[in-house]
Formats: sequence, structure tokens, C-alpha cells
Amino acid sequence: MKIQEFYDEATYTLTYVVYDEHSKDAVIIDPVLDFDPASGVVSFESTEILRKFIDKQSLQVKMVLETHAHADHLSSSHYLKEFYPQAVVAIGENIKLVQKTFKPIFSKPVDFPVDGSQFDRLLKDDELVEVGTLKFRVIFTPGHTPACASYLFEEKALFTGDALFMPDYGTGRCDFPAGSAKDLYNSVHNKIYTLDDKIEIYVGHDYQPGGRDLAFKTTVGEEKANNIQLKASTPENEFVTMRTERDKTLKAPRLLLPSVQVNIDAGQIPEQDEGKTYLNLPVSVRR
Ligand SMILES: [Fe+2]
Repeated sequence: MKIQEFYDEATYTLTYVVYDEHSKDAVIIDPVLDFDPASGVVSFESTEILRKFIDKQSLQVKMVLETHAHADHLSSSHYLKEFYPQAVVAIGENIKLVQKTFKPIFSKPVDFPVDGSQFDRLLKDDELVEVGTLKFRVIFTPGHTPACASYLFEEKALFTGDALFMPDYGTGRCDFPAGSAKDLYNSVHNKIYTLDDKIEIYVGHDYQPGGRDLAFKTTVGEEKANNIQLKASTPENEFVTMRTERDKTLKAPRLLLPSVQVNIDAGQIPEQDEGKTYLNLPVSVRR
């Protein structure tokens, strides 16, 4: 099994391709669709970089995995299927809760399904998934969102999405609708931190704190000892208080509104008449 990372500087997102160099079977985790909110232009630079690598290695993309419905970048999973039609787009089954929560917020049409059916496959907690010659286990890690899942490949490499970042940055925020600092503590402390210390962790974002170089790979043991917000020794109430207070100081992500409404629809931008298409911008007036 090999792992190749791709970093999107605009959204600080890590996309990964996990592949078997012998069978050529491949899984893409959290692919990015480029979006400029000022002009409304969707573009494919990140997708092209990914495709070039996949073509060069002659990989067969069998699955596209989402760790959750992202709130800071659009997913290119829908567009990747144009090139890899056999690829199954999969996400944790609790995406249904996220769809139910956000459908009214974005004024989605009444017939917008909230049963996860926009995705090809809904994954269950602790499910063992075989993708050609690759195998991974699903570990639900809610908190940042209720649908967050981490994926443990070959009992060696864990992709944590936004549950857990590099030790010098901490954890994902928990203040989105249906997020929960208590749930995130449980996911990290009682699930991820019970795994073998040697398991490698690949994070979903890196914000390069203090201007340090990009870093995206650590271990369970490193996180337990050194995570700045949540170590193995951190009590639950201390984490929940810290996370809740810190989240109050954070701004909404730049692409929050476009991202969530597209990503709960499995990365599809709704098609409308004559090639024109629109996203919704919910507005709240605060006096
Ligand atoms: Fe996220």
C-alpha cells in the first residue's frame, strides 16, 4: 500500500490517494473542487493534478471516500466520476443527519433526499470495506460534524479528516450545527487513542501554525503525548471547555456556505435552465 498526498493551499486541505502499486487499485480521500466565491467560478486545477498522478501510475480508482461533508472546500467527487465512472463515492451513513440539518438552512427543494441516496455507498461504523486489494475499517469519529468518519487502512494508516490535526494544531472545531465537543472528545480519546501507538495518522488539513513547513503525517502515539488540545491525559471537561471557548473566537470558513450545500449533495452543483446554475446564500440580518 502506498499513500500520496496533495495539498490545496487555498483551503489548507489534504487529499490522499491510497493505492496498491501491484494491483493498481486506488482510493481517493477528500478530493477538492476549486471554487472562487467572488466570481462564482468552479475550476478543476486540483482535480487535474490528481488525475495526472493517477494516469501516470496507471491506477484504477475504485472508490472516492469523504471523511465528512466539508465546510471549507467543495468536493470534486461528483466530477471525478466523469473520469472514473466505476468509482464508488462513499461517506459515513450519518450524512443523513447532516442533510436533514442543512436542507432547510439552504432552502433545498422539498424533494431533496435526506436519506444519503446522492452517495453511492453509506458506510457503517466499524464496517470492514474491501476495495479490490485494499482494505480499510470505518471508525466513526463524530464531533466536528455528526457524520465524520475516519478510515483505517490495513491497520497501518488512519485518515482522520477534521477530527484530529497535527499535534501542534489540535482538533477540528465543533461549532457547526450538530457538532459536539463532547462527541469529539469521545471519538479521539476513547476511539483513536485506543489504537496502536504506531499507527500512522494522516490529517485532513494543515494550517502550518507559526509558518512552519507543511506537515500531514503523525502517529497515534505522537498525538496522545503531544496534541496541543487533546492528549491522552486531557480530561473531558477541560477539552470541552477549551474547545467551546476557542470556537467562539473562530470566523466562519471562507467557503462555508457554498461548500456545505454542494457537499451534502455528494459534490453536485445543481443544474438549472440553459446551462446556468445557482447556489443559495442564506442571509441573516443582525441589528
Ligand atoms: Fe471539515
